This record gives sequence, structure tokens and C-alpha cells, in this order.
Amino acid sequence: MEGPVRYETHGDIAVFRIDNPPVNATSLAVRQGLVDAANRFAASPEKVAVLVAEGRTFIAGADITEFGKTPLEPHLPDAIQVIESLEKPVVCVIHGTALGGGFEVALGCHYRVMLKGARVGLPEVNLGLIPGAGGTQRLPRLVGVVAASDIFTSARQVSAADCLALGIVDELSTAEPFEAGMAFARKVLAEGLPVRRVSELPVPPTDAEALAALKKKVARANPGHVCHLKGIEVAELGTKLPFAEGRAMEREAFWELMQTPQRAAMIHAFFAERKVANLPEIKGIQPRTLAHVGVIGGGTMGGGIAVACLLNGLKVTLIERDAEAVERAHTGIARTLADSVKRGKLGADARDMLLADRLVTTDDYHSLATADLIIEAVFESMDVKKDVFGKLDEIAKPGAILATNTSYLDVNDIAAITRRPQDVIGLHFFSPAHVMRLLEIVVADKTAPDVTATGFALAKALKKVPVRAGVCDGFIGNRILKHYRTAADIMVLEGASPFQVDRALEAFGFAMGPYAVADLAGIDIGYLTRKRLAPTRDPRERFGEWGDVLYEMGRLGRKTGHGHYIYDAETPRGRPDPEVEDIIARERKAKGITPRDFTDAEIVERYMAAMINEGARVVGEGIALRPLDVDVTKLFGYGFPRFRGGPMHYADQIGLDKVLATVEAAAKEDDFFWQPAPLLKQLVAEGRTFASLN
Ligand code: 3HC
Ligand code: NAI
Repeated sequence: MEGPVRYETHGDIAVFRIDNPPVNATSLAVRQGLVDAANRFAASPEKVAVLVAEGRTFIAGADITEFGKTPLEPHLPDAIQVIESLEKPVVCVIHGTALGGGFEVALGCHYRVMLKGARVGLPEVNLGLIPGAGGTQRLPRLVGVVAASDIFTSARQVSAADCLALGIVDELSTAEPFEAGMAFARKVLAEGLPVRRVSELPVPPTDAEALAALKKKVARANPGHVCHLKGIEVAELGTKLPFAEGRAMEREAFWELMQTPQRAAMIHAFFAERKVANLPEIKGIQPRTLAHVGVIGGGTMGGGIAVACLLNGLKVTLIERDAEAVERAHTGIARTLADSVKRGKLGADARDMLLADRLVTTDDYHSLATADLIIEAVFESMDVKKDVFGKLDEIAKPGAILATNTSYLDVNDIAAITRRPQDVIGLHFFSPAHVMRLLEIVVADKTAPDVTATGFALAKALKKVPVRAGVCDGFIGNRILKHYRTAADIMVLEGASPFQVDRALEAFGFAMGPYAVADLAGIDIGYLTRKRLAPTRDPRERFGEWGDVLYEMGRLGRKTGHGHYIYDAETPRGRPDPEVEDIIARERKAKGITPRDFTDAEIVERYMAAMINEGARVVGEGIALRPLDVDVTKLFGYGFPRFRGGPMHYADQIGLDKVLATVEAAAKEDDFFWQPAPLLKQLVAEGRTFASLN
């Protein structure tokens, strides 16, 4: 049987053709095929070789499915070395994206032709790794240590034009990959171009100041990560060593990182992100047409949803309550688009076209009569939502999908207002909706499968990560959030300061602690939630009430310059306000609580145990399909540190028995809040992990 690397002869030109769908990853057979092709070329009469890949992209990197298993020879750096050591020139053609090991294969070739529109990158840091097949050693020899380190620590993709300008590639082409390679090979023959090995180039001098500044920036941008600075260290040291020694040092560092929990966590995140989008229940089901989207409510969420749709080619009709609100919504959308223009993400002409031709803002609901999908984002009140869905039932065309962006409310109740509950679904976006990648797709009891399929198609069109959720108060994300936020509040009532809680969780890796988040979202949100839940609250439930005091003082968080933290010119990111400690101390006293000290480790342990326990309940009840759906929700919607893989992956890493022990110990003091989830107990009893359910 033919392997994934074919050897062809075209007169004096040999072609190594890689064909390993879907993305030509360098799995074992590809590595062996490259070595075999190189050896055959060395012994052949052909004078020059072209290395080209079939399909949508050049090599997208090492085969990630092999990570964590025993690596089999030939290893990629060795295969690349065999190619680079050849005594006859090899021309590489880059199309699509040459990433990680793929880019490193290209750097091992003697000449590089790149198709316009193609990109290269070294995204290994996204997997908790550094480039391991010469990337930290060869790229600095082409562009210098600082530029190379910037490329692999940012994981950014470099455009063809930039590659040419930086000297990473020799020529750009608009031809098909094979033709582009053949044309360059003919030039090599005609001009007698020699073998030219990147490993033999001297490293350009390093600007020490620029390197120090980059290290600082990288450390600040990636707290908790180990791989980024390791990569820079290896690249910098490599400039002082012969290439072979630098390469060996890179390899050792790569293997050390391969053994870390961070690598396992980030690869879990990589595959989980892709698995959530392949929902088994909609396999083979055709989504409905999706070209014209209606949005009701042009506030924070409606405006953001409209922008997300516009930026991704959908036509939008946005409805507000009256002329003034219509004007406000339109201005808000125009401002967000102007911001995209300012940041170079959108051309000014494209922006003008979107506003003139693709967006209608109006207070006339009848304009929704032709919409394929209508997303409601009005106030979080069941009465208002029912009123809106009643109107939509009258106006929307047959087969139109009616969606709600509610954060907590019952989608079944909303669907029941209409005569078409099969067309109703929850589409829960996150703020800001044109930036945040998570989209919870809430499937109600009567939602038709092709409506669910259209929700997933919408996520794809908007480049979002869709997670299927069942109906319950808060779905997956907000339901779990409410639980761990309560755990934090209880710790504060028992004696921890909110600032210590934030510090401990930020040190764990969260982008922000819960009280900094509360200030950002607005203290009024927690206040309104407490009011909403008051009538159904169990008397045994413990909860913090200092937020009500802050609310009554008009301290609503960042928007008023004052919440748990003080935000002013001196500290725009906020500084702790000691007065909050006094307010909390008064609440403790009124509730008869004697405060005690918490260690940071204890805070993290309890907070995570609450998150994992509720996550287990959400999976056990079928609200989330699998533990990985909980992980993706928290990673993409709630700032959970990617290098920890998500709460359920983290739970497996520390041990489910340990999590259960924390829950049970806390239950001795509060057996209402700390009820162990049946699924957690079951898995511990059976000696299984959450991963076994993925
Ligand atoms: N290994 C194994 N499988 C891979 C893979 C890889 N490197 N890259 C992608 N795949 C798989 C995906 O899991 C997916 O499988 P599925 O269809 O069964 O879900 C399929 O290929 C298609 O991938 P996407 O859905 O992501 O397709 P897109 O077209 O959206 O994106 C891509 C293509 C830009 C190549 C994107 O897949 C990507 O970024 N891949 C990862 C690239 C990467 O991280 N490379 C570095 C690897 S580490 C390395 O090379 C170490 C070296 O230095 C030694
Ligand atoms: P908002 O208050 O910023 O905007 C609501 C808008 O709806 C207002 O502009 C209002 O004029 C308009 N509106 C009210 N009734 C209307 C009606 N009958 N017809 C047309 N327009 C009407 O609120 P926000 O934050 O945008 O929230 C909207 C919904 O999205 C809520 O259900 C909320 O729970 C949910 N949500 C909010 C998130 C957030 O972070 N703000 C995140 C995810 C969901």
C-alpha cells in the first residue's frame, strides 16, 4: 500500500508529495515517508526536489494525537535533519497554514516558495510546548532571536507578505502549489542555485534591550505558563552554541514540557473545543436557511450580537422600543464597528457598506417578517420576554427560528407562549458578544433537531464555540457560576477578605477573581438576582448580603468608579476599598459569625470543589452532555485558565477522591450547600475519572 508521502519523477525534478488528510500532520508514516523520499532522492539522478502537500493546507504540525504516547522513530527533528543534510537542493511550497512542525519542515528545506494568502506560525505554546523540531534554532538564524521569539511566544500566524519581508521565504506565488514548486525548481536548475542550509547561517546580533522588553511582556501576558519563557531561553542560548548542540537542548526542553500537566490540559482543551462542535444528535441533519437575522433589543447584548452577525456576512434587522432607543442602538453599533476599523480589523469602506446595506434599525416589529432567525435580547424579565414572543408568533414567517438570549429564564416556558415551540431555542451569548467565543445552545423540550442544527451552523458562521445545554436555571455556565460564587461568598462571610479571594484565584490562573468580575459586570446584577431568587430561597441557604449595601450606596462597580474596589485616575484597574471590609464585618456580626483565617490554598480548594461538584451535577442531570462540555463552557465563557484544561479536567488531575473529600469535609459545617453530586460519588466509588465519560 502506498504511504502518505509519494515520490514522483518529473525529468530532473523529484517531487515529495505529502498526502495525509485532513491537515497533513506529521504522523509516524509521514516522518518515515519523508526520510525514505530524501534517501531515495540522494541516490537518484534527479537534481532538485520539490516538497509539496495535497489538500487544503501544507503540514499543520506534529500529530497531536500521538502526544503523551511513547514517540516512535524517526522523530521529526531527525527527519528534518535528513532533508537539510542532502547535497542537492530541496524546494518547499507552503500553502494554507504551515504550523508548528510543518513550518519547521519548511525551515529545514533549502528554498521556500509561499502562496499568497498562506500563513506560517509556531503555535506550540497553545499546547503548553515550545517548537521541538528546530523552530527555536533555525528561525532565529533567519530573523534574529527577538523576532523569532515574538513569533513563537505569541503563536501568531505570519502572512506571506510579512514572511517575504522578514526573509523567511524566497518568493511568493499565485500558482497552484505543485506548479509554484516546479517553477522554482526550474529556476534552481537554470541558475544553478546551491544547497543553502538555514542551520549554517550565522545568527544576526541580538538587541539585548528589545529581548529584555519582550521577556517582560511575555511574562506579563502569560502568568502561570512555563513554556513561553523556556522557549526564549532556549532560542537565546542556541545563538551561543553550535547548531547541533542548540537543537539537542531544544529537544530536551520540548520533552520536559511534554511531561507537564499544562501540556495535557492544553491538548485536552484543543480536542474538547473541536468535539463540542460535532454534536452527535444533529449528524446528517440539514440546518435551515440562515441569511437574515432579526435582533430584538439593542442594549449591551443585542448590539454585540448584531455586530457579530454583520461582521460575518449576515443581514441584520434590529428592533428597539422607540425612536430614541433605535437611535441609541444604531449609534452603539456604529461605534463598535468604528473601533474595529481603528484596530485594523475592518476596512472603512466595508464598515460603510455594513451600515448602509446590511443593517436596519427600527421600532417596527413587522420588519422581522422576512427574518430566518430572530434573537431576543430584551430585559431579563419573563413578562417582557413573553410579550415579545407573543408578537413574534404573529409576525415571523413559518419556519423562522425564534431564539432567546436569556441568562437564566426557562426556555420551555418561553416556547410555550408560541404556537410553534419546535422553532424556539436558547442562544446564550456572552458579553461582549462580538468578542467572546462561547455560545451556549439551549435545547428545549420541543426544539426541532434542524433548529438545533441551525444554532450550531450559526456558531460556525460567527466563528464561535458552541456548547449544547439543557434547560435549567442558568444552563451550564451561569448555573455553575452561581454555585462557586456562593462558595466564595460563604468563605468571605466566614472570615476571608474578598481581596484575598481574588488574589488567590488570580494566582491560580483566573483572568480575574469573582469580586473584580462582580465590579465589572455591575453590582446591580447580583442584587437583582438575589431579589429574583428571594421568594424561592431555602431557609438553610447561606448567602452574602453586602452587595445589597453597596447597591444601596450607589456603588455599582466599575461603571460608578466604586464597587469592591475603587477605580480612579490613580488606579484605573482598581484598588481594594477597606470600607468594604467594614461593611462585611458588620454583616458577620449581625449573623453571629466569628471570623477565621483562610489560606490561599484553602480558598482555591473550596472554590474549585464547588465548581467541580456543581459541574458533576450538571453532567449527571444531562444538562451538559459530557464533562468536556463543562470544561469548554468555563474556558471560553468564564476566563478559566486554559493551562488547567477546565474544571473537570483539573478534577481528574488532582483526583476525584480528593475533590469528594473536600466537599464532604465542608459538608460537616454546611450540609445544605455542600451536598456531594451523585455522579462524583459514583465515579469515586468506581475508581473512574470524568475523562471516562468524554
Ligand atoms: N494533529 C492531529 N490532528 C489535527 C492537528 C494536528 N496537528 N491539527 C488539526 N487536527 C485535526 C483536528 O482535530 C480536526 O479533526 P476532526 O475533524 O476529527 O475534529 C481536523 O484536523 C481539522 O481541524 P480543524 O477543525 O481545526 O480545521 P480548521 O480548518 O478549522 O483548522 C488548522 C486547521 C489551522 C490546521 C487547525 O486545526 C490548527 O490550528 N491545528 C493545530 C496546529 C498546531 O497546533 N500545530 C502545532 C502542533 S505541535 C508541533 O508541531 C510540535 C513540533 O514543534 C515538534
Ligand atoms: P440591556 O438593558 O443592556 O438591553 C436591553 C435592551 O432591550 C434595551 O436597550 C431595551 O430598550 C430593549 N428592550 C426592552 N424591551 C424591549 C421590547 N419589548 N422591544 C424591543 N426592545 C426592548 O440588557 P442586556 O445586558 O443587553 O441583556 C439582554 C438580555 O441578554 C437579558 O435577557 C440578559 O439576561 C441577557 N444576557 C446578558 C448578558 C450580559 O452580560 N449583559 C450576557 C448574556 C445574556
